[in-house]
This record gives sequence, structure tokens and C-alpha cells, in this order.
Amino acid sequence: MFDIDIDYYDEVTSTNEILRQMALDGAKPGKTVVAWKQSAGRGRLGRTFESPEGGIYISMLLPADSSMTLTAKAGVAAKRAIEEVTGKRVQIKWVNDILYKGRKVAGILAQGLGETVVVGIGINFNTDMGALGPELKDSASSLYNSWEEPDSDAMDLVNSLVRHMYALAGDDDPSWLREYKGASAVTGKKVKVFQAGRQTGSGVVTEIDDNCALHVLDEKKGEMILSTGEITIRLD
Ligand code: BTN
Repeated sequence: MFDIDIDYYDEVTSTNEILRQMALDGAKPGKTVVAWKQSAGRGRLGRTFESPEGGIYISMLLPADSSMTLTAKAGVAAKRAIEEVTGKRVQIKWVNDILYKGRKVAGILAQGLGETVVVGIGINFNTDMGALGPELKDSASSLYNSWEEPDSDAMDLVNSLVRHMYALAGDDDPSWLREYKGASAVTGKKVKVFQAGRQTGSGVVTEIDDNCALHVLDEKKGEMILSTGEITIRLD
């Protein structure tokens, strides 16, 4: 359905930024940028995304969809690819962090651009945790330790991720949604809800609905329904 065309770079500022520029210059859905290092990787909520060697940084150009759906589909694509290629089982922490053994190993940033969306995924493949900021010490991890020889290939992971993402983007069958809900690391868990950097609630996650919104039964306010964007969930 898409004419997939991948450019590889050793290092860029940000694959999302490079692809955004390509889209402004006329690139079509299917255009994909992969880098093995980023000097100015972007994360959600205006944060930087530490992107040292050992990681996989990839951006794909897709036709516009609800950004919530594309972001959730990207989570499913990343989960499928990681499990297929590495054999490691991962979970999705709403809305789109990928966790391995309870720690974040991949993040997703979708940025709308007219009739297209740039979906960027960063995966800590065999990243040296010492190269990440100290604030990530307890929450982030890598699929493989930097000192190990991985028993899977980063290029296979790129190819699998691209295949799953473009297939899901053109897929109207909602079975991916069951997969997304089933992979949730937070359903049934007690969480604190942060919006715009401020705690606004605390309670148990009761469900993720068909719009990928998170339902939290707050101890004081009752049901909170959270959409994508400026919300951070912190597990107790
Ligand atoms: C997050 O967890 O805050 C989202 C991180 C998204 C990082 C990826 S790496 C590839 C692409 N290029 C970027 O600059 N950001 C995304």
C-alpha cells in the first residue's frame, strides 16, 4: 500500500526533524529515516530524547489519522517487532512507552504535518545506560546490555518495525486494539496522574477504551478519562 523508501544515517540531529523537512520538500507516506545516533533527539512534552550509539532511531511518514490511534498503533508495531526479532516480551505503558522488565526501552513521538504524520520511535537496543542522564537511571533500560553481544540484529528490528507500522497504518480491522489493551502495563494498577507537570489525581486504572483513552478511578474525584497529550502516569 505504501511505497517504502528508507534512508539510513550514522548520525542526525533528529530523524523526526529530517523527515519533517523531507515532507515539506514533497516526500510521500512511506518515506522513512533511520539513524544510529541523534544529537538533538526529541521526546514528548518538549523534552529531549537521549539518543546515544547503541539505540535505533526511526521516523516514518504516514497519512494523517487521529494522532491517538497512530500513536497507539506505533506502540503495537514496536511491541510486535521487538518480540518477533528479540524474543523478549514487552508491555505498553499508556500511552506509548514500551517497557521491558518494567523499565522504558522505547518511546514514541507522533508529530502532525498537514495531511501527514511523522511517527518517530526510539529504541534502546544495546545502549550504554551510563550514556543516558542520571534521571533515567531507575526508569529506563535497554533490550541488551551494552557489554553483551546481542543475539538479534538491529537491522532486522528496523525492517520488522517498518513492516508492522505501515501494515497497521492501513489496517481498519480493530484487532490491533485488543492487542494494545492486552499489552497494557497499567490496567488494574494504582497510578498517580500528572497533567502539565502537576499531580491531578491518583487511583486505579480500570480500562483503556476503544478511543485509547485511559480510565482512572480516582480516590476523590471518581472516574477520570484521560486522552493523549500532556499526561504522565507514574506507577506507585
Ligand atoms: C518520548 O518517549 O518522549 C518519545 C521519544 C521519541 C524518540 C524518537 S527517536 C526517533 C524520533 N526522532 C526524534 O527526535 N524523536 C523520535
